[in-house]
Amino acid sequence: MVSADMAAAVAHLLQGGLVAMPTETVYGLAADAENPEAIKKIYAAKQRPADHPLIVHIAPEADLTYWARNIPSAARQLVEAFWPGPLTLILPKAHHISDHVTGGQPTIGLRCPSHPVARELIARFAQARPGGQGGLAAPSANKFGQVSPTTADHVRHEFPELADQALLILDGGPSQVGIESTIVDVSMPKAGTPTVLRPGHITVAQIESVLGRPVLSGVQSASPRVSGSLKAHYAPRTVLRVLSRQALRAWLASHAKDGAEKVAAVVFAPFEDACPPTVRLYRCPDNPDDYGRNLYAMLRDLDQQNYDMLLVEQPPQGPAWSAVNDRLGRAAAAFIPSQDAG
Ligand code: TXA
Ligand code: MG
Repeated sequence: MVSADMAAAVAHLLQGGLVAMPTETVYGLAADAENPEAIKKIYAAKQRPADHPLIVHIAPEADLTYWARNIPSAARQLVEAFWPGPLTLILPKAHHISDHVTGGQPTIGLRCPSHPVARELIARFAQARPGGQGGLAAPSANKFGQVSPTTADHVRHEFPELADQALLILDGGPSQVGIESTIVDVSMPKAGTPTVLRPGHITVAQIESVLGRPVLSGVQSASPRVSGSLKAHYAPRTVLRVLSRQALRAWLASHAKDGAEKVAAVVFAPFEDACPPTVRLYRCPDNPDDYGRNLYAMLRDLDQQNYDMLLVEQPPQGPAWSAVNDRLGRAAAAFIPSQDAG
């Protein structure tokens, strides 16, 4: 795989190839949303089940009615308020949109990213593509269930098996939001009420304020409609546990002498008591935006260091922390027996 310039990336997409696209949330593994053979390459590279739908990334001026139908006024209001930006809308798909990109769902996920490199890529691809509207299907550029990438290097590390020319990577620097987009279902399955399927940087409160009414949130589905909603997802390879500060301190105290395990403890502030020699403390940011921006890079970094276990101090519970808590909870759930194996 090689680092690409914009013209090469557009040409590669037109030929049905894969391009790693930087976005403000995380890097995406992009392909022509209207080319079933290109879509198959995404599923193969990610080792993702074929019934997990992909988000289609479009330009701000794209015609929503090309991709979706029965677009409610709530969707228009959210587009107006938050696009381009880290918000994905789930809408009934237009009849001609293929099941390949929607994973067989009657709905489609649409997002308009704000990252300048993503915007330029989508705009140039849309202009160059003969027929169709030039949307890019792009899941996060990681193997299924693993930590999402927030730098071009993360993507390189994630797909070592993709030969030169199979995957072109556009380097857009580190993702500024760092956590995947907020997903709002406006296909109105629940008596006309929009539902937040995945929390993100755009909060429930912001969405409610734009719509002027309450929305549903945190609805867990047993089916894999939102793979990021599996209880276990976004997981590092090293065992990860999230503990209250009190439980973390007690754990450290009980391992102070016999600490045979090499442990990384991610904390908001150091402890006054002595730390076992095999435990390394890492300070994490104390505000949710910085925490979210750094979370996946931190997990990837710690994963490289051969710890036996990662212990993370539980962040505060307020709504501003809900996306961070959601991702940490799912990362930890991967190591609890009997959870979904996302
Ligand atoms: O920030 C993001 O959303 C990133 C960047 C690359 O845009 N993309 C991303 O894609 O996180 P992915 O595939 O890793 O997660 C998208 C989630 C999946 O859990 C998928 O199931 C859900 O969106 N999704 C997509 N289309 C859907 C649909 N029609 N109905 C319900 N969920 C859908
Ligand atoms: Mg993902």
